Amino acid sequence: MAARKVLKMGDPLLYKRAEEVREFGTPELDALIRDMFDTMAALNGAGLAAPQIGVSQRVVIFEVQSNPRYPDAEAVPRTILINPVLELLGSEMEDGWEGCLSVPGLRGLVSRHKRLRYRGFDEKGKPIDRTVSDFHARVVQHECDHLDGILYPMRLKDIRLLGFEDALFPDL
Ligand code: NI
Repeated sequence: MAARKVLKMGDPLLYKRAEEVREFGTPELDALIRDMFDTMAALNGAGLAAPQIGVSQRVVIFEVQSNPRYPDAEAVPRTILINPVLELLGSEMEDGWEGCLSVPGLRGLVSRHKRLRYRGFDEKGKPIDRTVSDFHARVVQHECDHLDGILYPMRLKDIRLLGFEDALFPDL
């Protein structure tokens, strides 16, 4: 297993709706997930969606411990989430700076729902059902957007809210 090449914004596969996973616990799925974790770790990502490594399936992973790319972010448990369904809770929105391994070097200020419930399955097909808020909720929304062909710059209210990391955060 190994870190794989991450597709960059502009690659048509990133704009496709990914397919549901139909079989759990297969060697192919396990290999995909291992490659996704290797890729995310190699690039210090907070999360990764399968389409970002060229596999158009509804699989996302995320994990935030202390992450140099997100120094102020709270921890998010290591999660494999397959065929996710999001239920946005309440109307409260929160702005936050996001980055994406498919949009290297840039950050954008994106408004996301503050609370949500997400359901789906782990790699063995065991159900996951969590209600989360804040950064955890942001990560889930960002990663699940990838499965519907949405990159965070498409969510910006104003293109001026997009910029290069070293210009926006010169002290990082
Ligand atoms: Ni992303």
